[in-house]
Amino acid sequence: MSQLTRRDCLALAAGASAVAGLSGCATPDRASNADHASGPPLHELASEKGIRFGSAMSARQLDDSRYRDIMLRECATMVAENEHKWYTVYPDPDTVNFVPADRLVAFAVENGLTMRGHTLLWHRPQYSPKWVNELDFSSASDTADFVEQKIALLAGRHEPVIYAWDVVNEAIDDQTGAFRETSLSARMGEQLIDHAFHVAKAHAPNAKLTYNDFMSWESTSTAHRAGVLRFLERLKRRGVPIDGLGIQSHSNYEMPDEFTRDKQRNWIAFCDEVVGMGLDIYITEFDVNDTDLKPDIAYRDRLIAGYTRDYFDMMLAYPQLKEVLVWGMVDDQSWLQTFLPRADDVLKRPTLYDKDYKAKAVRTSLADAFRGAARRQAL
Ligand code: XIL
Repeated sequence: MSQLTRRDCLALAAGASAVAGLSGCATPDRASNADHASGPPLHELASEKGIRFGSAMSARQLDDSRYRDIMLRECATMVAENEHKWYTVYPDPDTVNFVPADRLVAFAVENGLTMRGHTLLWHRPQYSPKWVNELDFSSASDTADFVEQKIALLAGRHEPVIYAWDVVNEAIDDQTGAFRETSLSARMGEQLIDHAFHVAKAHAPNAKLTYNDFMSWESTSTAHRAGVLRFLERLKRRGVPIDGLGIQSHSNYEMPDEFTRDKQRNWIAFCDEVVGMGLDIYITEFDVNDTDLKPDIAYRDRLIAGYTRDYFDMMLAYPQLKEVLVWGMVDDQSWLQTFLPRADDVLKRPTLYDKDYKAKAVRTSLADAFRGAARRQAL
């Protein structure tokens, strides 16, 4: 099946919805009073098509029995929201803290969920521990030794439970498309990235290795898309062991005009180039950012449900899309509440379940998109 093209898949998929998604005008009323949790769990609908479905979870949410129940019902896989990041594991030069990550991994193993790893190197000073940003290496080889030690420990810790790693996160400047400069790249340049992938391969030999970023179809993302493509080409040319691109999918700032034809064309051209390099694609952090939508709940839910169906119809048409992870399951616990709060302080509705743990119309959209997708070869 992997030799199927996106066009074949579109034709195979429950045609009407896929085509409607691509037309950019599919926003029927999906926010009715239906029971949006009815029917098979999402992971089952996804796996029937060769897709792995899951969500991010934090160690804190392990103590929330209703959150746990949703995870166990809906998900086949999960990812730690912050617990594998350097700022948690290596908060200062002398501490290694795997306590919260170990708890999440134990939960996954006990309950038969698989686990994705995020991330071995968040190549962005804003999210790197201060002490790492302040390091001043005297040579490339000193840097390489330091990075190897940090990544080896992380990648080896939960091997072989973790079947895929976001080896590098957000290395391309979203404004310029250039490779970001950090204390770790100062001496190594982009060799840092190659090194990170090679170390990951050595210590998690069976994991799928991914570059993860938030480029999108939106008008503000042109330089970012181009920068990521050139970056992936350079990695491929240098023989870096990379299996796929993680498409975070947090972006939807332009609703209700999210999918104009132009934007779709640009985005499909981008995805075509990525899969043309022989890479898989993964949706790694889906949520919906309703910061600027007017507050009426029915209105927002309708737009979000329509947007979600359009986006997934477009993406599931790629047989190379093997995984779908959402970034959290319950609205009031979403990172977007504090990262980008609404000016009117109204609670945002970025996830599949509301603050009362009730499934919303957007869940039905995702379920329907899985139902309409063509089968593909699983990971
Ligand atoms: C976010 C977490 O959800 C927040 O709790 C944390 O404060 C910052 O990071 N892109 C990524 C994720 O790759 O790691 C980010 O997660 C969201 C954006």
